[in-house]
Amino acid sequence: MSKVSVDIQRAIRVLNENGLVGIPTETVYGLAANGLEKKAVLKIFKAKERPSFDPLILHSTQNKIFQWARDVPFKAKQLAEAFWPGPLTLVLPKSDIVPFETTSGLDTVGLRVPNHPMTLQLLEQLDFPLAAPSANPFGYISPTSAQHVVQQLGDQVDYVLDGGSCNVGIESTIVGFENGDAVIYRLGGLTQKMIENVIGVVKVQTNLSSNPKASGMLSVHYAPKKPLFLINDFADVIDDESTAYMLFGERLDVSEGRQFFLSEEGDFYEAASRLYALMRTLDDSKYDRIVVKKLPEESLGAAINDRLVRASVK
Ligand code: TXA
Ligand code: MG
Repeated sequence: MSKVSVDIQRAIRVLNENGLVGIPTETVYGLAANGLEKKAVLKIFKAKERPSFDPLILHSTQNKIFQWARDVPFKAKQLAEAFWPGPLTLVLPKSDIVPFETTSGLDTVGLRVPNHPMTLQLLEQLDFPLAAPSANPFGYISPTSAQHVVQQLGDQVDYVLDGGSCNVGIESTIVGFENGDAVIYRLGGLTQKMIENVIGVVKVQTNLSSNPKASGMLSVHYAPKKPLFLINDFADVIDDESTAYMLFGERLDVSEGRQFFLSEEGDFYEAASRLYALMRTLDDSKYDRIVVKKLPEESLGAAINDRLVRASVK
């Protein structure tokens, strides 16, 4: 029996038995398990080789999700109202029922309602939330298709729901609250401006610390195996036939075969949706190094640049 298909009832059976299921979301695929069961949650950490200090996000539907938090600030409710289901994760004080295995010992929990019809149907039929990090080995590129999940975690996962390619393509934006003020811990599918339009000015704190609040804050993350050079100007590049380019809104005067487009027209949303799949393609290609120029810091450009910095050779 193939491990990959569209059978929601089968996913439910696996999850009820504390198994692991790959789930599609609009951002990236998740590696999901019952987020209230220690045993199930620990399987996630093991499968990903994820350090135990890196907490998981809980996923559920809008009408259920806040039961796993307490003292929800008004601004969090406003953001939930504006952006769920969607690429927003809210970090809130956790309710007692959420095990510390899920939150890596923290008293807070990340919550998200993903915007994918298949996964929403699944979540509606569960009375527990799904803990789900991105379904990639720790530190490697996040998966944006069911095939990516199978390629990397095929042996560890019990079943993968195939919901096609992720249309946002980069992870959710994570927002927490410190003394009542909203703080962005990770830039993602929602821009700072979109958040500020709803709740006013927010601080962005996505620094590359070694004691991160979010693993996306670690300085090496989302990385391909081949060296990726992030540059400000193509004039700085020593070009040769082993160099492949990831391009945004421009063409270069090099052989066609070495030009790969994040977006030929310079569309930020298209670039985000292609980013990880293109990194994989180039990682598996005959080229030895990947060169990409920083995108303008507008729209999703800031979040894409954040991922590129972490993927790049320092
Ligand atoms: O788009 C997404 O968010 C995807 C899909 C599957 O929902 N999930 C995802 O999960 O990217 P993950 O585990 O790869 O990244 C979640 C980040 C981690 O860096 C983690 O450290 C942070 O969220 N996080 C989770 N709980 C937190 C908490 N209580 N406080 C601070 N950061 C937290
Ligand atoms: Mg991840």
